[in-house]
Amino acid sequence: MSFAPANEGIAKLKPYQPGKPISELERELGMTDIVKLASNENPLGCSDKVKEAVAAELAEIGRYPDGGGFILKDQIHAQFGVAHDCITLGNGSNDLLEIFARAFVSEKDSVVYSQHAFAVYALVTQAINAEAIEVPAQGFSHDLDAMAAAIKDNTKLVFIANPNNPTGTWFEEAEFERFMQKVPNHVIVVLDEAYVEYFPENFNSLKFLAQYPNLIVSRTMSKCFGLAALRVGFALASAEVTDFLNRIRQPFNVNHLAMVAAVAALKDEDFIEKSRVVNKVGMVLLILKVRLAKSFMAKSVKLLSPLTKVSMIPPCMTSMPYSFLAVFRQINCAKMNAISYLSGTLQTRKNLFYAVLMHPKF
Ligand SMILES: Cc1ncc(COP(=O)(O)O)c(C=O)c1O
Repeated sequence: MSFAPANEGIAKLKPYQPGKPISELERELGMTDIVKLASNENPLGCSDKVKEAVAAELAEIGRYPDGGGFILKDQIHAQFGVAHDCITLGNGSNDLLEIFARAFVSEKDSVVYSQHAFAVYALVTQAINAEAIEVPAQGFSHDLDAMAAAIKDNTKLVFIANPNNPTGTWFEEAEFERFMQKVPNHVIVVLDEAYVEYFPENFNSLKFLAQYPNLIVSRTMSKCFGLAALRVGFALASAEVTDFLNRIRQPFNVNHLAMVAAVAALKDEDFIEKSRVVNKVGMVLLILKVRLAKSFMAKSVKLLSPLTKVSMIPPCMTSMPYSFLAVFRQINCAKMNAISYLSGTLQTRKNLFYAVLMHPKF
């Protein structure tokens, strides 16, 4: 049997490698006490109110969900003041990232994104076989000036993650506004705010929606809200842009239980606050532990080096870097992901710091 070849972009595409499920790694390695860091899930799981809301709706699963997503859009409207016709629901925000690209980009166009940005931006660009313009990062951050300068006549879309995954870096409102002023108004800018709930700054992206009809703000319920398994994301944009997005969205892309859970999760502000605190405490602890480990390693190297062949000392031990503290400087969850990105996708508690310290990048 022979198949028609896939489109050129898809033929060359290396699919996204999600972090392995804990159960799979347990089977593979015969280990327990595994901590999954690859996907920045909420360590608290989800709110009890979500569990109650989902349990109360289980009897409804025989019916198709509301394709228009009224209850969820209404909650988003109540919380963020965005009208229903400016909201697009997604089966996770990954679904939305693909919808953005499919709605606005064709093979002859280009897409701009940063080096070290979320991996899916490159994948959705390649699936369309569009030109990818990857702009070198500054340190580990988006270089917004360079990204604006990289926009070409055929550029249709720019992807920006703030805070970024996997590097945990972020930029401020004023920097973003400067960037938006430089972007031609026919170019769509996707501001991916998957981690916005953990953001320490007062960055109000929503106020830019009225000013820039080419802006899409993308959010997810998978991270701080703890609904990763249910797959819910939403995009906020002008009514004109939203109309295009909804033309290609699958009619039932968000299921009923996911919508019910998302409504309950958005309402439970106490759970979000608790998650923020856990994240902040985790960030402080991790930085302290890394600093301690770093000074311990530096001392050990001094003691060991006269006795050991230089080639036996891993480079990371001789040049214990400050760079990873810079990488980890802001967001705990993204920072944790940076560790897993650099050191493999799953680590046990015991070998996590060992893995970070021994990684050649350090
Ligand atoms: C920056 C960023 N955007 C989007 C996503 C997609 O998340 P989801 O599809 O679960 O909404 C992720 C997940 O890791 C992410 O890190």
